[in-house]
Amino acid sequence: MDHVRARITRDGIRIYEDADFAGMRAAGRIAAEILDAVAAMVMPGTTTAAIDDFITAEIKRHGVTSATIGYKGYRHASCISVNHVVCHGIPGAPIPMSKSETISRDLEKRRKDDALKDGDILNIDVTVIVDGWFGDTSRMYAAGTLSRMAERLITETYEATMRGIAAVKPGNTFGDIGHAIQSYVEGKGMSVVRDFCGHGLGRVFHAPPNVLHYGRPGSGPVLEEGMFFTIEPMVNLGRPETKVLADDWTAVTRDKSLSAQFEHSVGVTATGCEIFTASPAGKYFPTWG
Ligand code: MF3
Ligand code: CO
Ligand code: CO
Repeated sequence: MDHVRARITRDGIRIYEDADFAGMRAAGRIAAEILDAVAAMVMPGTTTAAIDDFITAEIKRHGVTSATIGYKGYRHASCISVNHVVCHGIPGAPIPMSKSETISRDLEKRRKDDALKDGDILNIDVTVIVDGWFGDTSRMYAAGTLSRMAERLITETYEATMRGIAAVKPGNTFGDIGHAIQSYVEGKGMSVVRDFCGHGLGRVFHAPPNVLHYGRPGSGPVLEEGMFFTIEPMVNLGRPETKVLADDWTAVTRDKSLSAQFEHSVGVTATGCEIFTASPAGKYFPTWG
């Protein structure tokens, strides 16, 4: 009898086979290539609708499928979350106004459309399905000149994400991942969003467990070789609370502070983990410059 590892843990987490890593690698690579290609488009004046159209075209060119079009009624190939949008920003929708734009009496300074402005930061999140396997990844981009505060937020969010990933190995727990992220972020005076989390994935988009980006060491399910999941912390410069706008998708920080996010899909190996969504071009961070 061949060795078969496939099973579901007591926490409902699927354990995949060695051969399944190839499927996730292929899906993750295409998602990452699309995020590499989109970098050249991000500049002041570009609309989020144009970015999403480009992503739709790239998905088609690769001969693969968008996981988000048709997902719970969502109709776009990406989520594009600008400035204080935490996640699930809708391409083509007017970009929510920042604090200064809201109070400005100068109508020219008020945002009315989906065009990027100088100094905007944005997360672009793409999920593709390749031969039935889901590749889910996001990273941060900047339009024009980056403020020092925004650069700090993005850099620390990237570092927090990689520290979470560094905690992935058999025998560690999901709480160890969350703790690595939370302790780093809070040590920098920033906050971790509690209202959204990472997730198991594989031949499905969202599966157990909820991957929390905060937690206590040793808490939560034990990591085992063959688990596939995302790590996708959202980090705010201000308070962690979020709210969802009337469109039922766009999540923003309640205090309108800037927010950043990175996301990788990973698989637990015998000694650590494989990042399925690593950038072939080496542009995961920074995407600019
Ligand atoms: N890609 C997102 C995630 O990281 C999910 C987006 S669902 C959508 O889980 F419908 F908003 F696109
Ligand atoms: Co995800
Ligand atoms: Co995603």
